[in-house]
Amino acid sequence: MITPITGFSKLNKEEKIDWLLNTYLKESSTAESVLKQYWNNNEDLQQLHEEFTENTLSNFYLPFGIAPNFLINGKLIAIPMTTEESSVIAAASKAAKFWQTRGGFKVEVLNTEKNGQVHFKYDGDPGKLKRFFELSKPVLLDSVETITKNMKKRGGGVLDIVLLDKTSLLENYYQLHCTFETKDSMGANFINSCLEKFADTLKEEASKFTEFSSEEKEIEVIMSILSNFVPNCIVRAEVSCPVSELSEDKNIDSKAFAEKFITAIKIAEVEPYRAVTHNKGIMNGIDAVVLATGNDFRAVEAGIHAYACREGKYTSLTHAKVEKGIFTFWLEIPLALGTVGGLTNLHPLVKVAFEILQKPNAKELMQIIAVAGLAQNFAAVKSLVTNGIQQGHMKMHLMNILNSQNATPKEKDELVHYFKKHTVTHSSVTEQLERIRN
Ligand code: MEV
Repeated sequence: MITPITGFSKLNKEEKIDWLLNTYLKESSTAESVLKQYWNNNEDLQQLHEEFTENTLSNFYLPFGIAPNFLINGKLIAIPMTTEESSVIAAASKAAKFWQTRGGFKVEVLNTEKNGQVHFKYDGDPGKLKRFFELSKPVLLDSVETITKNMKKRGGGVLDIVLLDKTSLLENYYQLHCTFETKDSMGANFINSCLEKFADTLKEEASKFTEFSSEEKEIEVIMSILSNFVPNCIVRAEVSCPVSELSEDKNIDSKAFAEKFITAIKIAEVEPYRAVTHNKGIMNGIDAVVLATGNDFRAVEAGIHAYACREGKYTSLTHAKVEKGIFTFWLEIPLALGTVGGLTNLHPLVKVAFEILQKPNAKELMQIIAVAGLAQNFAAVKSLVTNGIQQGHMKMHLMNILNSQNATPKEKDELVHYFKKHTVTHSSVTEQLERIRN
């Protein structure tokens, strides 16, 4: 019988591991050594990692790679990517090379507005609330003066506050919808601090508003929090070239390729089952760069998928067309990112990622990440409508299969050579491994 533990967080790392070994891992002969094997020998670095979160026992490594040859608005960039999925970085690199000789990626940040809400309940006359809000708005804005001081120096701050009546959705539900410019920081802490101050000021001002009845004075703040849905923080990435330059494959001519590619995109536009996988492929690229640059991939994921169904039906994030013989393929997504604050100044590998990217500001990082998504989608759909995804994917996955079967370096060399000319499947790799072992 396992009994609940109190004070676990107060134990040191060794004690936590001991508790775990004695409680859940009695049968494991390897857990302790594996957990400790991933500790960093550099004690300062280990401590830094431990202090990122709570109850740390070890470190969880993911590969950190780069996809070179990205020509973005005329600048050649190597993009750092962190992902566990084989063939993602290879696919990005291939798409980068393809478009590098066809004019590269053109990217534009359309807007950079972040937002957050004070959600509250008010049981009273909506007209009085509106009047109260209009009179109190300058006080609300003044109340965050000390919080916004530094942000203002950097050209950011609170953009606006509007009162929204949401009572058709939920009884007595209103909100202060607040918009922000947070420049090079993602702005979560800044926004949440402002919102909590707005909430306090709202209650305080309401308690003094003479037109309110005593019940109306009792505004109930439910919560104050930023939104990860940022439909006014949009970046658009695009590639284009004459249709005649599209195909590199002798089995399909350029025109047929363009038509098939565009049909594949249209299927993702109209069919949610396909759209989800299509967008997942885009996120393979986006998440890998978001992670490598120490940004919040859960926020990015949530925001992008919400954007993909902003019109009530989940749809593709990319689009394609041919006009006057020119093939154009583009992506439009919301991205709330930071290049200062958070992990960006703390994680040594994140710092290296920023150096590789030549220290971009938040807008430039939005552009780079949108490009990674578009490139990834181009590579996936290109494979899907030509050779199928498995050919390239399984080649890249070969090493994982070999490692899972403890292949020696010599066996790996031999089978990598063999599978240059044969189809990789799990069973064919097992068979060939058995053949050479016998
Ligand atoms: C696999 O990680 C991603 C793909 O399924 C994306 C797609 O189908 O477009 C290949």
